Amino acid sequence: MTMRVGLIGAGNIGGSHARDLAGRVAGSSVSVVFDVDRDRASALAAEVGGRAVGAYQDVIEAADVDAVLIASPDDCHAEQALACLAVGKPTLCEKPLAPNEADARRVLDAEVAIGRRLIMMGFMRRFDPGYVELKATFGPDGIGDPLIIRNSHRNEVAPYGLDSALSITNAAIHEIDINRWLTDDEYAWVEVLTGRNGPLTPEGQHDPLFLLLKTRLGTVVDVEMYVQSQLGYEVTCAVTGGTGAAEMADGAYVNASRALHRGHSLPQQWLGRFGEAYRLQLQAWITSLEQGTVPPGASTWDGYVGAVVATAAVASLRTGQRQAIELPPRPALYS
Ligand SMILES: NC(=O)c1ccc[n+]([C@@H]2O[C@H](COP(=O)([O-])OP(=O)(O)OC[C@H]3O[C@@H](n4cnc5c(N)ncnc54)[C@H](O)[C@@H]3O)[C@@H](O)[C@H]2O)c1
Repeated sequence: MTMRVGLIGAGNIGGSHARDLAGRVAGSSVSVVFDVDRDRASALAAEVGGRAVGAYQDVIEAADVDAVLIASPDDCHAEQALACLAVGKPTLCEKPLAPNEADARRVLDAEVAIGRRLIMMGFMRRFDPGYVELKATFGPDGIGDPLIIRNSHRNEVAPYGLDSALSITNAAIHEIDINRWLTDDEYAWVEVLTGRNGPLTPEGQHDPLFLLLKTRLGTVVDVEMYVQSQLGYEVTCAVTGGTGAAEMADGAYVNASRALHRGHSLPQQWLGRFGEAYRLQLQAWITSLEQGTVPPGASTWDGYVGAVVATAAVASLRTGQRQAIELPPRPALYS
């Protein structure tokens, strides 16, 4: 059986997902593509063997679409995910679920009302071999419980223009999610520190940002978020455990010595670091659709919690105050 996927948003990551689904994931094809840029949709559809349509609703309602992949800009996700829920089609929604808590809550409430886990969130780091192996070091036979987790997330240039709130809701949202997943815990509070800016930071913005979070069990998490770092795309994660420490390798397995230099090159952006994680995530999603099992990745609840924490972090950025994280009870659908 082949899962026919309809794609909404044919840009950088939508194109990558479509090529994976058409060529590198077993059991899937791309049947329909929509993008507000019609030429882009047509070109990608021709490349992956699908057809382009004129509205996102045409993707969702198409008879030859079994599941939908949302890869449009952040502020389109909630509306498009609600439309997918309305017709009961399984959906992979790129992160974030929404750039604010209120829109994310509308999607959560709609899925809970339906009573079926139809949405999987594109928090692909949960499928990255580096993070998976890092988490496997935790516990009594490894480094013990995670006490302190230190993260950095650097882009060469701000991918969607420099806006400090976007650095949180669009980029640091990955760290907000992956550290919840690493610790199996929720955050108690978040605080955002700003300081000396990098040379490319426009007036009125802050870059880098430093996020400090504490989980309910007391794990201290920090995140350096530097989107105009110029150095390349680099993501690090180092954990101090109760009885040891572990540091994630970064996907580079060879250090080459040449011209008085030893090391490895950095990719320009995320596809160069997390390409395999995206493919593994898509394969796990397609396999779960074939088998009729609950999607294995991050849920709508995880997307909602990410939006709550990011909204609190943006409030801390604006006020300079530490923000408590208040969550409603987790619906039974996600237990
Ligand atoms: N999981 C990850 O690591 C990861 C990586 C990159 C991007 N993303 C997410 O994927 C989404 C797309 O990011 P991108 O880098 O591909 O951006 P992009 O700008 O390259 O592509 C976005 C595409 O959406 C189209 N678009 C604009 N409005 C639309 C609408 N209303 N409906 C449908 N399409 C519309 C644009 O024309 C463009 O082709 C973002 O939400 C981003 O956060 C996730």
